[in-house]
Amino acid sequence: MIKSLRNQLVVALGLLVSMVGVLQGLSSYQLCRNGMSALLDLRMEQVALRMRDGFAEGIPAIPARGSQDARDIVLTVWKTDSDEPYRSTEPSLALPKTAPHGYSSATVNGEAWRIFTIRDSSTTIQVAQRLSVRHELEETAATRTLWPLIVLLPLVWIAVVLVVRRSLYQLNRLGSEVQAIDAGHLKPLQTVGVPTEIEPFILSINRMIERLAQSIDAERKFIADAAHELRTPLTALQLQADNLQRDIVPGNQERFRELRSGIARSGSLITQLLRLARADAPVNGTAVARVDLAAVVTAAVADVLPIALQRGIDIGAEKMVSAHVRAVEADVGMAVRNLVGNAVRYTPDGGTIDLHMRLHDRMVCVEVIDTGPGIAEELLPRVFDRFFRANPDIEGSGLGLSIVKAIVARYDGTVTLRNRVDGPSGIVAAVCFPVDDEEEANDPQPG
Ligand SMILES: Nc1ncnc2c1ncn2[C@@H]1O[C@H](COP(=O)(O)OP(=O)(O)O)[C@@H](O)[C@H]1O
Ligand SMILES: [Mg+2]
Repeated sequence: MIKSLRNQLVVALGLLVSMVGVLQGLSSYQLCRNGMSALLDLRMEQVALRMRDGFAEGIPAIPARGSQDARDIVLTVWKTDSDEPYRSTEPSLALPKTAPHGYSSATVNGEAWRIFTIRDSSTTIQVAQRLSVRHELEETAATRTLWPLIVLLPLVWIAVVLVVRRSLYQLNRLGSEVQAIDAGHLKPLQTVGVPTEIEPFILSINRMIERLAQSIDAERKFIADAAHELRTPLTALQLQADNLQRDIVPGNQERFRELRSGIARSGSLITQLLRLARADAPVNGTAVARVDLAAVVTAAVADVLPIALQRGIDIGAEKMVSAHVRAVEADVGMAVRNLVGNAVRYTPDGGTIDLHMRLHDRMVCVEVIDTGPGIAEELLPRVFDRFFRANPDIEGSGLGLSIVKAIVARYDGTVTLRNRVDGPSGIVAAVCFPVDDEEEANDPQPG
């Protein structure tokens, strides 16, 4: 069974056209043979009639034996009173004088002949032609009618393949569009230029996309609202803890510190949740600008420099390239800072963190390479999941990379994490954005 619609159509149409072609070829072959045979008969009849008009005398009385070409017709004229032919173009051929009037067949000298006979009271005129010669002539003419078919059939197959492929190209294009739909790209599919048969599909997919977008938006709003609502009581809690500080007896100081750091952790978790909800929301066009990525990288390094120095981590940005991206500057900054932050957090004291910039395929990438422990290969695919933490010993929310992923989805960028393969353990985290190379993109157009 053929699964592909394209192959099904090609085979069905190709076979159909071939069948019609072959039938047409066979019938024109047969028609041509019959026509040729009728033509040869007509010629024999005309020659015989001419003989009756007195042309018989023109045949030499004693023709040279075997002088006649095998393909020629043989003429024989008999007189009623004699059993010997009166005149014959081939005297060695003993045609049956008694053959019936009109067309007949006979075997003479071991060969089959087609004979046309007319007789009157005094004369019998016979015109004969070898059947083998006639068949040869018929076949040659009929075979010629097959040539167009032989040449056209392969061309028709090619045309069928091209036509089917062309018609189904739209389906393939739609297929890849549908495949590209994910939570970050919930845009309705185009219906212009879509074949009418497919339009209902597109419309129902679009309705589904709309419902999906609504429910994702509702979820995002809920998270944002919840985080926002939680922030107020948490801030109050923090203030009260600050005020309580003086009243804590020395024996309880340690437990009180734990309480406060718990409150601080909850605070940063809520901040991360809010950031994630914001990164998931559609981009607000007005805040989009031309962002100098090298400047963002330098700022991110400067941010963590004090902590890195304190922990003896050698952090440096090399191989910077000048490239701009169109985005909300805070988004790009957060994406780079989250990767740098992870590198600092998971790299042991005295380690090294290198930042590289790279231009590739109209994308500009920032790579953050650390000398930390890396991540077990089987856990790598999950690091972008919300709340996933591969290393629970080290404090974190498990939301940092989810935020980066949501940010890059906004701008058709990518983020990848892989283990180093160049010797030391560690992670190569890379975030890429499409390059914005329109120099004047920022300037308002005059008029
Ligand atoms: N540079 C890194 N080296 C080792 N592990 C990392 C690195 N970056 C991320 N991870 C792992 O991926 C998990 C998810 O990262 P992330 O989403 O930023 O959350 P977290 O708040 O825990 O840092 C982390 O918990 C950590 O186990
Ligand atoms: Mg993190």
